[in-house]
Amino acid sequence: SKKHLIAPSVLAADFAKLYDDIIMVNNSEADWFHIDIMDGVFVPNISFGFPVMQAIAKHATKPLDVHLMIVDPDRYLQLCKDSGAAVITVHYEACTHLHRTLAAIKELGCKAGVALNPHTPVSLLEDVIADLDLVCLMSVNPGFGGQKFIQNTYNKVKQLRAMAAGVNDGLLIEIDGGVGVGNAGALLQAGADVLVAGSSVFAAANPTQSIADLKAVDIQ
Ligand code: DX5
Ligand code: ZN
Repeated sequence: SKKHLIAPSVLAADFAKLYDDIIMVNNSEADWFHIDIMDGVFVPNISFGFPVMQAIAKHATKPLDVHLMIVDPDRYLQLCKDSGAAVITVHYEACTHLHRTLAAIKELGCKAGVALNPHTPVSLLEDVIADLDLVCLMSVNPGFGGQKFIQNTYNKVKQLRAMAAGVNDGLLIEIDGGVGVGNAGALLQAGADVLVAGSSVFAAANPTQSIADLKAVDIQ
């Protein structure tokens, strides 16, 4: 079976020693850097913006998986790409013309992702599923790290995997929020491919080991 990907979320890093945390992720078994960009409008919080992302990109040796929690993401796609993004994920709830936005992301040469808030049904992606590289299922309400995992996410992973079967078998299903070794196996079993982990990595006594532990999880 194909191995899942681990994407540590830099949101949970110590911003005063960001360089050290980037090197830690570089030297770990992590696959991607998960970069959470917030605007204080789409979500009730502000994280960091593209100048900080550019500083991360300068040192990161793994792809940057950018999660745009912003309204009107079309305005920032070019800058996001120029700041080092490999994957650009926009929110379904923030895109009036999602099909056009996805085409614009691909036009830039990035992988295109859509994130769904916990209340947004996966069935709404039916008419764009063939165009997607990744779907990010939010397993918490976006805006903050360290929140409790929402159990209904398992149903959404299974539904999405079934929807993608035969239409987009290479679709990556990413889970974002409250992920750790306690639920990783069940998420992989349900059909997840990419696990985002913020606090379960950076709040751990040994972040490198917690990344290795997540990578070593087998389908239950
Ligand atoms: C939440 C962000 C997440 C967050 C995950 O809005 O999208 O990526 O950093 O943090 P944990 O793993 O602590 O829930
Ligand atoms: Zn995220």
